[in-house]
Parts: sequence; structure tokens; C-alpha cells
Amino acid sequence: MNTIKVILFTVLVVGFYSFYANSIPQTESHPPKKISLDAKLSEDEMIEAGERVYSTKGTCGICHAIGRKGSRGPDLNGVGLRAANRREGMNAKIYLLESLLDPSVYLVEGYAPMMPPMAGILTPGEVMVTVAYLQSLGGQVNITPEDVRAAMQVGASSTSPVTEVAPAVEETAVNTIINEVKSGDAEKGKTVYNTFCIACHNPDPALAGPIGPEIKGSSRELLEARVMRGQYPDDYTPKRETKIMPPMTNLVNDIDHLTEFLK
Ligand code: HEC
Ligand code: HEC
Repeated sequence: MNTIKVILFTVLVVGFYSFYANSIPQTESHPPKKISLDAKLSEDEMIEAGERVYSTKGTCGICHAIGRKGSRGPDLNGVGLRAANRREGMNAKIYLLESLLDPSVYLVEGYAPMMPPMAGILTPGEVMVTVAYLQSLGGQVNITPEDVRAAMQVGASSTSPVTEVAPAVEETAVNTIINEVKSGDAEKGKTVYNTFCIACHNPDPALAGPIGPEIKGSSRELLEARVMRGQYPDDYTPKRETKIMPPMTNLVNDIDHLTEFLK
């Protein structure tokens, strides 16, 4: 049973980050404070690091509060305990990972799907220490320094063992999530493109449009940077020098679909 849990857990983390590995943005309009993680963190240091992620780079406090309802998200007090019973077959660790990596899969009653998936914002190590911090809010912390180290390594490599491990956990909730996130849907991407992009880009993305350049073949990293943040990946030479295109943060869940459509 324990082995299964370890596999589920690994699959979840590796699955998300093999997908995001090359596209974890490190910059925002205001440069986030660097949070240094060391794989030898003690439990207290992990929690402290998680608290720092929560209040700085993660900008969780924009929506959440602890001990009362947040401006837009639920009270996170006691979430470490609650997390164990939120979803059948998911322990607290997995549930909290899921709520950070793919928040819209399970919605807390009465709330809208507006929390951004943190894989595009935080590094795997940062996600892991944030989970440790969340567990400390009323629950038992069972994130270990090994988990943090494993997560940091996932972030560093882009190999994808997920396809080999996934069949073993077929039919599980975790697997479903991974499959949803792993591959964008080109048809959905096309609809998003036709709705939000062709005012400026060509209906055929391989051609230049009335205002925007051709964008067929854009990488996920480029799309994420451009559409979410109005920026470019480091070292990318833009096709145009202009700064006409506005960020469209409402498309946070459509980047994968757009990537698939533009392939
Ligand atoms: C833009 C607003 C927003 C931001 C930023 C945000 N959240 Fe959320 N969060 C929500 C909303 C709304 C919900 C409830 C809907 C849902 O479950 O997704 C939620 C749900 C959650 C849950 C599930 C709570 C439960 O009781 O099951 C956790 C855990 C959580 N957020 C943690 C975080 C952390 C940690 C951060 C920062 C790294 C963060 N959130 C950033 C809006 C936000
Ligand atoms: C208001 C017009 C406008 C809209 C709407 C728009 N774009 Fe753009 N886009 C541009 C322009 C103009 C550029 C060139 C850089 C600039 O001026 O911002 C650009 C550049 C880009 C680039 C970078 C191209 C490169 O390789 O340098 C990508 C990728 C891109 N757009 C994707 C999209 C996607 C996807 C959508 C729809 C979700 C979209 N754009 C919607 C006008 C627009």
C-alpha cells in the first residue's frame, strides 16, 4: 500500500513537472524574491521556507487568509487536517499538491475556479515546501527533506518517466489529472485561438496576421510568457520589437491547448 502511495506521489510530481520542466517562468513583472532551498532543510526550515513562498512569490495572500476568509479564496486555517478527507483515495500530501498544481480539478464549495496553477509560477521545490507549510496548518507534516530534494531534481531534468509509471495507476484520480494536464487539446486550442487571437494574428497561424506575426510552432514556454505575462522567455529573440499584445491572464488554463493547436 505504501509503495503505491509513493508511486502515486512520484507520478503526480513528475507528471506535472516533466510537462512544465522547460517552461517554469522565473520572472514576473516585479522580480520575485529568490527563495533558496537546500535539500538538507530541517522540518522547521521547510515550513519556514513554505511560509515565505506563501507570502512572497506565491502571492497566496492576495486571495487567501489564515484564520478568516480571504478576499477571494477560502480560509486556509486547518487545511492540513481537512486535506486528508477532501478527496477519496487521496492523502493530505497528494490533495495539497493537486490543489497547488491543478486547482480547478477540485473546487472548494462556494468558490470559483480562479486560483492559478502554481506549476507555472513556483519551482517544484517551492511547491513542495509550500505543501509542508500548508500541512503545518492543523495537520501533520510528512513532507521530508527527501521529498524536497526529489522535487528539486524533477525541476532540473526534463525526462518523462510518467508514461512508464502511469499504467500502473490507471483509473486513479491522480492519473486522470496527469492525463488532463499532460496533453493539451488541439480542438480547444483552436477555439481559444479563434476567439482571442485572430483579431491580430492570422486565422492560419503559419501566416502573419493584420497586426501580429505568424506564431505557428510557438513553444509552451513562449506562449506562457507572452500570453500570461506579456514577456518573452530569457534568451528569446522576439519576431517583432513592438509591445502591442496585452497579457491575457484569463487564459491561464488554455496555454496547453494553444500549444497543442499551434504545433
Ligand atoms: C487568485 C486567487 C488565488 C491565489 C493567488 C491563490 N489561491 Fe488558493 N484558492 C483560491 C480559491 C478561489 C480557492 C477555492 C476554489 C478551489 O478549490 O480551487 C482556492 C483553494 C485553495 C486550496 C484548497 C483549500 C481547501 O480547503 O481544500 C489550497 C490548499 C490553496 N488554495 C492554497 C493556495 C496557496 C498555497 C497559494 C499560493 C501559492 C494560493 N492558494 C494562491 C484562490 C487563490
Ligand atoms: C491586440 C492584438 C493581439 C492579440 C489579441 C494577440 N496578439 Fe499575439 N502578438 C501581437 C503582436 C503585435 C505581437 C508582436 C509583439 C508585440 O507587439 O506585442 C504578438 C506576438 C505574439 C507572440 C510572440 C511571437 C514571437 O515569436 O515573437 C506569440 C506567441 C503570440 N503573440 C501569441 C498570441 C496568442 C496565442 C494570442 C491569443 C490568445 C494572441 N497572441 C493575441 C498582437 C496580438
